[in-house]
Amino acid sequence: MAGTVILTGANSSAGLHASEHILKKYPQHTAVFTVRSAADTDVNTNSLRAILARYPETKASIHELDLGDLTAVHNFATTISDGVAGGQYPPIKSIICNAYYWNLVSDPELTVDGFDKSIQIGHLSHVALILRLLGSFSPDGGRIELLSSIAHYRKKTGMSPYLPEIPDDLDLLIHPRADPDKQGRGFQRYGTLKLVITTWMYPLNEYLQKDPKLSKITVIAVNPGNLGDSRAFRTNTPASIRYAQKFVMRPFMSLVRRFADPTFRPSAEAGADIAELGVGRADDGQRGYYTLLEKDEPDPVVLDPENQRRIWAKSAEWAGITKDNTALKVAFE
Ligand SMILES: NC(=O)c1ccc[n+]([C@@H]2O[C@H](COP(=O)([O-])OP(=O)(O)OC[C@H]3O[C@@H](n4cnc5c(N)ncnc54)[C@H](OP(=O)(O)O)[C@@H]3O)[C@@H](O)[C@H]2O)c1
Repeated sequence: MAGTVILTGANSSAGLHASEHILKKYPQHTAVFTVRSAADTDVNTNSLRAILARYPETKASIHELDLGDLTAVHNFATTISDGVAGGQYPPIKSIICNAYYWNLVSDPELTVDGFDKSIQIGHLSHVALILRLLGSFSPDGGRIELLSSIAHYRKKTGMSPYLPEIPDDLDLLIHPRADPDKQGRGFQRYGTLKLVITTWMYPLNEYLQKDPKLSKITVIAVNPGNLGDSRAFRTNTPASIRYAQKFVMRPFMSLVRRFADPTFRPSAEAGADIAELGVGRADDGQRGYYTLLEKDEPDPVVLDPENQRRIWAKSAEWAGITKDNTALKVAFE
């Protein structure tokens, strides 16, 4: 059934390709593409506009949504839920939570809400968006797709000497400490963000399955691969990473993929797969963690019920979600 498909960070490296894939392969849906800035000076949003212009027959629109501002996220959710209730948008079929933030060259930064930018933009704002909009999904269900990463695994990488972790004191997620090792700690915050996202997926699926009205909504968390051409490696990164992308990752992408990392690939491939999992397979009934297009095992830490319980409770609290503003009442009983 045709529905509304929401994609955040639609002008990201993979997001642009995911957007085009949705418009080309699934034109029956109403695409709601969100971007941090819709200004006509934003080159990435202009790239998204150019894609929309190639599919004039589709029902797609671009919306400014700064995920670093929870009031804006709640207002946007109200606009969409009112729009579905009033018939302006069809019921939701998919929400793809693609946007994220990292900073490998500065101390942790706070949003206007007083939370660390990485955890709010990548996770808390998506928590608010999803939980506010569950009641606007199509009665025949749909798909929520969270973007995880290989970085969520508690394994050392060349990017950081520190492992991602769910700390005993969860307040460290929203107020991480400054540290002289900006790259190491910045990448750790990123890995931790992806660990938290992946952990949160499990209780969300459990609660959805307990509610007969929402049980056909399925949640997956996807590692889309390492995207050698992503602008991520040129955004808030030290010169060493920018040079590595320019002189190794991009020119030798196929060699890196063949001999070092089979998930290393261009954003175009990842974008198409993100759209397939989020929209093409929205009704496949599957849940859980994926690497590329295949089911995979996440880090064992995310399967710990106590971690899941703690992450679930704090995420809802920080995102401003209570039983009064979500259809998922069962999670608050
Ligand atoms: N790149 C990789 O190698 C890789 C590997 C594994 C997983 N992933 C995941 O795949 C997804 C897409 O990655 P990508 O490489 O396509 O990302 P990207 O090109 O670096 O783009 C990041 C996106 O997040 C948006 N964003 C940042 N701050 C925001 C805010 N305050 N409000 C709203 N949007 C905001 C950016 O918008 P602005 O630019 O306008 O701020 C941009 O659209 C991410 O979740 C990423 O973690 C990527």
